[in-house]
Amino acid sequence: MTEAKFTRRVFSGIKPSGCLTMGNYLGAIKRFVEMQNADYESIYCVVDMHAITVWQDPADLRFATRELAAAFIASGIDPEKSILFNQSQVPAHAELGWIFNCVARVGWMNRMTQFKDKAGKNAEAVSLGLYAYPSLMAADILAYHATHVPVGEDQKQHVELTRDIANKFNHDYKVDFFPQPEPIIEGPAARVMNLRDGSRKMSKSGASDMERINMTDDATLIAKKFKKAKSDPAPLPETVEGLKDRPEAKNLVGIYAALADTTPEAVIAEFAGAQWGRFKPALADLAVAKLEPISLEMGRLMQDPAEIDRILARGAAQANAIAQPILDKTYDIVGFVRS
Ligand code: TYM
Repeated sequence: MTEAKFTRRVFSGIKPSGCLTMGNYLGAIKRFVEMQNADYESIYCVVDMHAITVWQDPADLRFATRELAAAFIASGIDPEKSILFNQSQVPAHAELGWIFNCVARVGWMNRMTQFKDKAGKNAEAVSLGLYAYPSLMAADILAYHATHVPVGEDQKQHVELTRDIANKFNHDYKVDFFPQPEPIIEGPAARVMNLRDGSRKMSKSGASDMERINMTDDATLIAKKFKKAKSDPAPLPETVEGLKDRPEAKNLVGIYAALADTTPEAVIAEFAGAQWGRFKPALADLAVAKLEPISLEMGRLMQDPAEIDRILARGAAQANAIAQPILDKTYDIVGFVRS
């Protein structure tokens, strides 16, 4: 399939569940802003329907949805340049998701590592939605014929599954209808690790608050978390190769590079041989300088939730205008009678 047939269109989403972390910011939102400002049509979504695959208190979900929208805007997503909305306001996601449930194979779902990690030993008791989640994610992307999907490393397998679903749909119905979206996973923060254990991802749901930086943390807390972050006894190496087998050191250097918009090589060039006592305060200062303006702006935007709702409603109308004709065409292809 030739990509030229499709507009260069970005789609990505974030779940409004719990606090947004620096991992979500550096691995996703910051890169969404870069793509918005490059030559792409961009669509960004607060995926509330994905959030309820695990229990969400309704009041908390409403708050988290608006707070995540505020985080997008405070980070630089401009609702005049990008479409910004919440998923449940555009019915095409759920409707196309059902069709994809009938395209995707159970064997494919069984290979999803994130499901295995999340369900753990409890797989019989988790929701059916958690299991089917990747086919709803495929619908999110393909309802817009999106061609580029910026995500963190942990979502790569889901975007690959989206490609498989698009392929199988096209093949089964003998059409050339859905594009093959490309995962865009780039930069030193594609996988920000936990501050207490460099072998595990920084996540919203990790047990201890000290293992992550939340976008709403204040300067004192950010400094404290970096000070207590796990490191190792050696000073910073002379070259990036020296970070091999030093997961915590590699993570902290990667975070610095992403925050400073530079490369790990440049960070090492500046801090070669430095002790943690010098590097960690510099990292904390940088994080505060970059994150504090965003959290202050989020707080300001959250003072006016009605305005956030207006932005989401307008975004949903724009999203619907793209997705509904694609859904209509999909229904025709599948053979649904629409009288
Ligand atoms: P979610 O809400 O878990 O995470 C949102 C985005 O943040 C990235 N991310 C990270 N990046 C780097 N380091 C980390 N520690 C880190 N933690 C999270 C994720 O990779 C993601 O890009 N299923 C998705 C949401 C989704 C979606 C979509 C994404 C639903 N539909 C369609 C793209 C396209 C999720 O749960 O992301």
